[in-house]
Amino acid sequence: MRFLSGIQPSGNITLGNYIGAIRNFVKLQDNKDFTDFLVFVADMHAITVPQDKTKLRANIRSLVALYLACGLDPKKVHIFIQSEVHEHAELAWVLECNGYIGELERMTQFKDKKAKQTEGVSVGLLTYPSLMAADILLYDADVVPVGQDQKQHLELTRNLAERFNNKYGETFIIPEPFISKDGAKIMSLQDPTKKMSKSDPNPKGYVALLDDINVIKNKIKSAVTDSEGTIRYDVENKPGVSNLLTILSVIKGKDIKTLEKEYEGKNYQAFKEDVIEAVISEIKPIQDRYNELINSKELDQVLDEGRDYASFLARKKLTKVYNKVGLGRKR
Ligand code: AQP
Repeated sequence: MRFLSGIQPSGNITLGNYIGAIRNFVKLQDNKDFTDFLVFVADMHAITVPQDKTKLRANIRSLVALYLACGLDPKKVHIFIQSEVHEHAELAWVLECNGYIGELERMTQFKDKKAKQTEGVSVGLLTYPSLMAADILLYDADVVPVGQDQKQHLELTRNLAERFNNKYGETFIIPEPFISKDGAKIMSLQDPTKKMSKSDPNPKGYVALLDDINVIKNKIKSAVTDSEGTIRYDVENKPGVSNLLTILSVIKGKDIKTLEKEYEGKNYQAFKEDVIEAVISEIKPIQDRYNELINSKELDQVLDEGRDYASFLARKKLTKVYNKVGLGRKR
């Protein structure tokens, strides 16, 4: 079985990205069911919204270093940059020609991001899910781990693949979502009804994996809670406290019910201190490894190997697609 996933280098990688994605990749890389493991940097997705070119380049490299620092092992995982494998864009085009504007316009993430755009909304923001579908279908990925927020995009990928297979004959494997259990979605510290996002213009809303330790402390200290004073999980009425409970539960590996009991009668300050300690003990070793890796040659070697391997698979699949559709000359 082949496993594939990617993250956009569209800002500072957050605790949400870590808990919802990277941490799970690291666990899954040892799963023997996966004979092939691909993780990429989705830089082409990042430009669906405006990016500063210098920052983008830095974010790409930083994300690769974080993948490794968080524990992805290049002996087990092929790590590559999306734009270095041009077949992603080529397959996306073919899929777009078999997709419908209506189904793209229905995507929640498109609607959310469109609402946030102050200037023109790019076509890429709308067609983003067909590029994501191409990322997945190009590699015959069987399993795609997605946060709950990406579930809708994966459903669209499955629809596009089924439609293509019906029209042109068996070509793509229909990917299965891998959604980690409850608590995978981390919310903004300032508005806990919204997910924690690396592109949040308010940096207090997220904990970045590379934030200074004191900054992390302050961000968690000033996380929005409520005036009730009890530590219990109730997303509707207590989204802030529930979010902190989720973070603590994932990092400590304890279920929420156990935590609620442990914190009976305790105040928010003590609770937040424990969340701070847990987050820092998880993040500090990652930061240390990151600092060793960011300027290393090893990073480029990993990326070269990843690109060559991904290109080999992608070329084979795209040739098949072009032959099915009748593009170019028979190869
Ligand atoms: N808050 C979150 N909680 C849990 N999982 C999350 N993910 C993102 N935010 C959270 C998961 O991280 C992976 C990478 O996401 P992405 O970079 O492809 O895009 P995204 O989901 O749009 O992430 P961000 O941080 O919100 O980025 P921006 O702000 O650039 O849009 C995915 O698996 C996602 O589920």
